[in-house]
Amino acid sequence: MCGIVGYVGSRPSQNILMSGLARLEYRGYDSAGIAVIGEDGTLGMRKRAGKLSVLRDDLARTPLPDGTTGIGHTRWATHGGPTDRNAHPHLADDGKLAVIHNGIIENFAELKAELESDGAVFASETDTEVAAQLLAREYHRNGDDLEAAFRATVNRLDGAFTLLAMHEDHPGLVVGARRNSPLVIGLGEGENFLGSDVAAFVEHTRSALAIGQDQIVAITPDGVRVTDFDGGEVEVEPFEVTWDAAAAEKGGWPSFMAKEVSEEPDAVANTLRGRLRENTVAIPELDGLDELFRGIHRIVVIACGTAAYAGQVGKYALEQWARVPVDVELAHEFRYRDPVLDAGTLVVSISQSGETMDTLMAVKYARERGAKTLSICNTQGATIPRESDAIVYTHAGPEVAVASTKAFVAQITALYLLALHVGRVRGTLPADVQAQQVAELEAVPGKISWILEREQERVTQLARWMADTRSVLFLGRHVGFPIALEGALKLKEISYIHAEGFAAGELKHGPIALIEPGQPVFVIVPSPVFSAQLHDKVVSNIQEIRARGARVIVVAEEGDAAVLPFADEVLHIPLAGPLFEPLLAVVPLHIFAMGLATAKGLDVDQPRNLAKSVTVE
Ligand code: F6R
Repeated sequence: MCGIVGYVGSRPSQNILMSGLARLEYRGYDSAGIAVIGEDGTLGMRKRAGKLSVLRDDLARTPLPDGTTGIGHTRWATHGGPTDRNAHPHLADDGKLAVIHNGIIENFAELKAELESDGAVFASETDTEVAAQLLAREYHRNGDDLEAAFRATVNRLDGAFTLLAMHEDHPGLVVGARRNSPLVIGLGEGENFLGSDVAAFVEHTRSALAIGQDQIVAITPDGVRVTDFDGGEVEVEPFEVTWDAAAAEKGGWPSFMAKEVSEEPDAVANTLRGRLRENTVAIPELDGLDELFRGIHRIVVIACGTAAYAGQVGKYALEQWARVPVDVELAHEFRYRDPVLDAGTLVVSISQSGETMDTLMAVKYARERGAKTLSICNTQGATIPRESDAIVYTHAGPEVAVASTKAFVAQITALYLLALHVGRVRGTLPADVQAQQVAELEAVPGKISWILEREQERVTQLARWMADTRSVLFLGRHVGFPIALEGALKLKEISYIHAEGFAAGELKHGPIALIEPGQPVFVIVPSPVFSAQLHDKVVSNIQEIRARGARVIVVAEEGDAAVLPFADEVLHIPLAGPLFEPLLAVVPLHIFAMGLATAKGLDVDQPRNLAKSVTVE
């Protein structure tokens, strides 16, 4: 949460900062601000509550003197409401020092009291301003040495933070630090960048450095120096950003979400690429881990939100193909309940951003307790993969819309690849079963494209008709259950409509009381070809709710005639093997949520109260 960008070089920095912030706006959008050391050597700052466009309009009306050193911030409020005053940057040292921050400084109250007793006066309610005032005090105590003062400051802070600072006495220098919060360096020619993620600078350079935990970086136009919190020099890992700036552009689509839903086939295809071999799966990143996979007796999947639903789908594949018991846990619940972990437990984390604080903390907790950790992640150089023993990247490309769509199908794909890889290594998968699953996986991108081509318009039309709906229920069984949960989450998240997902079999244990005449219910119907028994059970559930007046919208395989008499609407998906239906059934649900939010005139990319990367607990 919160997007951060820093620049030093020879070009005017304001446009660079503003376009970096535009690419990071998905991280928070309740206020934004920039600070620039102008040509005249003085520090100028502008910040405004509201989306980035408010700041942009303000700067267009009353320009800020430009200069070649600057920092910028887009905020998701934690301490203090989303006001001009609480927006970042925060200034100190009589307006000569500017600080921006992502995260939460947990000991801010105690530090604030200490600074106030020293005479400091605060202009905002934020924890960030405490860091700014502390840095100003340390700056003078350290002979105006910004880097030394910054080191002294971060060593006093508890909690999670990425901080950037600059001082007008030091044009051409931006310092940054990170603890449990993201920060990457972009390397240019005679210019350097800092960003919460590579999107901040990918239009200028694809050459990047990932900074580790508890490290400080100082960038100047010609150099980058990384040290630890004690001042020791640190070697940093360079990496090449694999996608270009265009991948994170809307490119003619009405929204990032529309673009990203259209990219679901590619997200699956790109995640499969290089991992399928002659009727089997071999994930090169997992070479050398056979012993580990043979030795495990349990897998715990940890994730949040949509990623956790991907985990719930993956559980079926991991248990069926690799024959390992799997528990799926919400990361924020997992580490607060003293879970049983040992060296025979493999903890698989799933995160699009790789920065979700709850998931990161759960991974660290699991490692400290002796479990092995494997990260399924979509973002190169992110913190969670860096903190894990092994990584399987999803290759969905940058996901900008707050609601996760293409990353979800990529996560399920990666989990299926993992299940097939581990199953092969453990010898639990006969060759013909492997070959069958590989063929199913290879067919998924084409089948998703089929849904987009054939059903998108119809689903969108249905969403328009239902724009006044106040509540929608989603039902599924087996792998359809997590898809029901995902359909409900997506709808409430972007259209602000009450929605609930249930296991279809659970209905008669309570939720059926919600059914009244006209209540819309989406039902994900399992394949009659591959799961006749499950199919018939779900058709019985449909009859139960129809009898009570529900309006039934089914997501069913093309050719499933048995379901037609009981459905008010049928959304078709192609025939797919037993575990592959989730990758298809979710597509109409993503389209539906997007269509309904659009029909209500809402911003589908930036829903209220949310941010894409949840870097606070
Ligand atoms: C829902 C959504 C969230 C994320 C969750 C985890 O559409 O996007 O529920 O799935 O916040 O985020 P990552 O995957 O970045 O850890």
